[in-house]
This record gives sequence, structure tokens and C-alpha cells, in this order.
Amino acid sequence: MLRRLSAKLTIALMAIIAVTCVAWIALTLFATRLYQEEVDQSLNSPLAHYISRAFPLITDGAVNQQALGGLFDQLMVINPRIEVYLLDLEGGILAFSAEPGRVKRDRVDLGPLRSWIAGPETLPLRGDDPRDLRGSKPFSAAEVYDNDRHAGYLYVVLGGEEYQSAADLLSGSYILRLALGAGSMGVLVALAAGVLSFAWLTRRLTRLSGAVETFREAGFETPAKLMGWRRDGDEIDRLGIAFEEMSQRIADQIEQLHRADAARRDMVANISHDLRTPLASLQGYLETLAMKQDSFSDEEKRKYLDLAVRQGDRLARLVAELFELTMLDSTGTRLNFEPFSLPELVQDVAQKFRPEAERKQLSLETEIPESAPFVRADIGLIERVLENLIENAIKYTPEGGSVRLSLAPDATGIELRVADTGRGIADEDRERIFERFYRAEKSRGEAPEGTGLGLAITRRILQLHDCPIKVESALGEGTAFTFRLPLAQM
Ligand SMILES: Nc1ncnc2c1ncn2[C@@H]1O[C@H](COP(=O)(O)OP(=O)(O)OP(=O)(O)O)[C@@H](O)[C@H]1O
Ligand SMILES: [Mg+2]
Repeated sequence: MLRRLSAKLTIALMAIIAVTCVAWIALTLFATRLYQEEVDQSLNSPLAHYISRAFPLITDGAVNQQALGGLFDQLMVINPRIEVYLLDLEGGILAFSAEPGRVKRDRVDLGPLRSWIAGPETLPLRGDDPRDLRGSKPFSAAEVYDNDRHAGYLYVVLGGEEYQSAADLLSGSYILRLALGAGSMGVLVALAAGVLSFAWLTRRLTRLSGAVETFREAGFETPAKLMGWRRDGDEIDRLGIAFEEMSQRIADQIEQLHRADAARRDMVANISHDLRTPLASLQGYLETLAMKQDSFSDEEKRKYLDLAVRQGDRLARLVAELFELTMLDSTGTRLNFEPFSLPELVQDVAQKFRPEAERKQLSLETEIPESAPFVRADIGLIERVLENLIENAIKYTPEGGSVRLSLAPDATGIELRVADTGRGIADEDRERIFERFYRAEKSRGEAPEGTGLGLAITRRILQLHDCPIKVESALGEGTAFTFRLPLAQM
């Protein structure tokens, strides 16, 4: 039960209400009592004055016992809760109306009396209670004169001895009981309203935590769906939406991880396959050679050796390319950006491929502007891109065709294009040729040698430069690869 937020909130609300109630009751009782005293005191304020006028309590310097006796008798009849004290000029008690044994003090502080006679600013004003050494009570007081001479004070203590306790006050007052009853009803209604609204407000939180739980139980793979939550709603709504998006993201990423894992496994399988084939051929040629050494003519021996060397080359190349791709893929790859002249680089690379082009009777043309601004890129890697593209162009173009390298500078960059008049790429292969190990030629035996990694490396390098690569091709007519490098800021 206490694991629910609404329960905790309800308990907190109950605690707050309880504290408030206690404080409110205490305050009410305290204020009621003060008010009672104030009313009592202000109603009886002229009392001492009247008495001192009506009874000559001190005559010829002595207490007038006869007048005193008459006063006490009358008081007993009118209001027995009133006590009357006759004080001398220093506050000493000369005579009193209470029962003899019950008066504990023999003098009273005159300070409050003087403020009373001067006209008190606030009521109730309390003075010493002669029946209690520490207590104080509201009173009325007046000066007593003996033939126009100030001879003492009349001190009238109001309300008698037992000022009621809180319980007495309550049991004695219908109004207070009524107020308390109404107050309790109000509190109960507030409490019920609080509990209901907490349950209502925390309903969505409960749903949200349920959704989180479901998401967790499903292995973080099924994104949470919260129906009807609004992006422009309150904090809980926004929290829900944020969670929904977060769960979607997590699920996507987990799926991506699974896919990457599958791709990695595929790749390992591909690599082992691709390594095994040349390795097996190499082994085969060498074994044949070893077995038939005596029966083979020199020419045959030479042929087998050549074949073995070719397979060894292929193997070495494959391993080198795989290594290169792994390096480019590792997150720590740092590119060495620098400004350089793209026309010069293209000329250099073209120069390198000229003998090979001539051997295949291809024309290798360049269309390069005389001067072009520097571009900013990793020159070593861009050289690899060019090599891969030109190598492919030469490899996949039949004799008599042409390969054309062109540069087109504009305001912000230079576009580089490698076009050939080769056999072209089928539509269904156009996206896939950039995948690792993908080769468009289905029957590998007849196709030119290759591992299918060249374009994967090319695309990865350009990706690291934030440059997309574009391919246009028509089957049987030719292919063109284009990409664009940004100018160096001078
Ligand atoms: N200019 C081109 N004309 C026609 N097909 C091409 C051209 N360039 C690439 N291809 C196709 O794309 C495939 C992938 O090319 P990629 O360079 O990645 O591999 P590869 O050339 O077969 O091997 P290597 O890793 O040795 O470069 C090739 O097998 C080929 O089918
Ligand atoms: Mg290639």
C-alpha cells in the first residue's frame, strides 16, 4: 500500500490536516477565553468605581468595618464570584471578601491597577490574583478616598476562582461544540476530496510506471505506447511522451546492435570464405607442383607457379583491404585534413594507371581546369578513393573503351567524376555495390579478379569526410561515380 504515491500523499495530507486542526482548536480555545475575559472585564469595568463611591470604606484613617460588612453581604447576593480587596497605598491587603484561609498574598502589584485607573489601552488587563501566588486575573479597580484624601485602592477580581479548563470550556459551550463539529465535518470532506484528487492525479503516473515495467520486462525491445498523452500537456504528460520517445530510441538501438552483430557474423563468414578460396587454390597449385615435379615440363611448372603467385597476391590484397576497412571503421580513426591541389593529385593517380590502361587499350582522358582552388581533405585517403574508382573503371571496361576523369570547381567545392564506357551496373545492384564483399558479377569465375571491398572502402572514406558518393549507370553503356570535396578556407 505504501509503495503507492497516492497513499503517501494521503498520509502527508492527513498529517498536515491533523496538525492544522490541533493548532486551530488550541487557537480557538485560547481566543475564546481571552474574549470571554475581555467582555467580562469591560462589562464590569465601572464596578470598582461605583463601589468606592457608594461605600465609605476608609474613614478617619481606619478601615470602616461596618461599611465593609454591608458591601460584602450585598456582593454575596448579587454575584458571589466577585472578590473585593481593600488595599493601602502600597498595595498591602487591608481587608477582603473571600474566605479567610484562601488568600495567599498579603500585597498586590500596583502597576496594573495604575494603568487601569489611567484608562487601559487593551483589554483584558490582568492583575495579581491574591488567591494564587503566581496567577493573574482580570479585574476592576478604583482609588478610595478618605474625606478627599487618597487613602487606598479598591481591587475587584472578576470571574472567581475557577477559570475553566479547555474541556470545561467545550462542555459548557454549545456554540463551541457546534463550531467544532462543523469544523470536523469540513476536515473530513477535505480529506476525502484530497484522497480522490490524489488518486486522480497519480493515475497517469501509475500508468507510466506500468509502461516502464512492461518495457523492462520485454527486454527493452518493444517501445512503450501511451495513448492520448499530449506533448503540450502538463509535466506528467511530457514525462510520458519523453519516455515513449526514449523507449523507441532504446528499442531502435538494441535492434541496431542485433543487426550489427548479425552483420559482423556475416562478415566473419564472408571473410573466412573469401580467404579460404584463394588459400585452397594456392595450396592446390603448390601440391600439384610438388607431386608432379618430375613429370611437369618447365613451361607447366612455370604456369603453376604463376597461378600460385596470383592466388598469393589475391590473398595478400584481401587481407590488406580488410585491415584497411577495419581501421577506417574503428571509432578512433583520425583524419589528417589538409589543403591540397586536387588537379595535381588526379594527374598523379591517372599517371599511375596509364600503363594499365594502355595494356587494355583504353583511352584514359582527363578534363582538368588549369587552376583550381585547394580542397581540404585527407590527401592519402582521397588518393585511395581515386585509385579504387579508376581501378574499377579500367577493370570493368572492355578493350577499346574510354575512362574519363573530370573536375568541376564551383564557389564552395570541386566535383570529381570518374566515368567509363564499360558494361554498367544493373539497377538492382546499384545500391549494393557499396556493401562489403558485394560483387555484381554472379558467376565469379568469369569475372575480373576482385574482393568486393574497394567500393566499401571508398564509401567509408567519403563518409568520414561527410561527402556522399553518387553513381549513375546504364547497363552496357557505362558508369559514372561522382563526389564533391569542399574548398579549403583561405
Ligand atoms: N565502373 C564500374 N563499372 C561496372 N561495375 C562496377 C564498376 N565499379 C564497380 N562495379 C561493380 O561493383 C562491384 C563492387 O566493386 P568493388 O570495387 O567494391 O569490388 P571489386 O572491384 O569487385 O573488388 P576490389 O575489392 O578488388 O575492388 C564490382 O564487383 C562490380 O560488379
Ligand atoms: Mg574494385
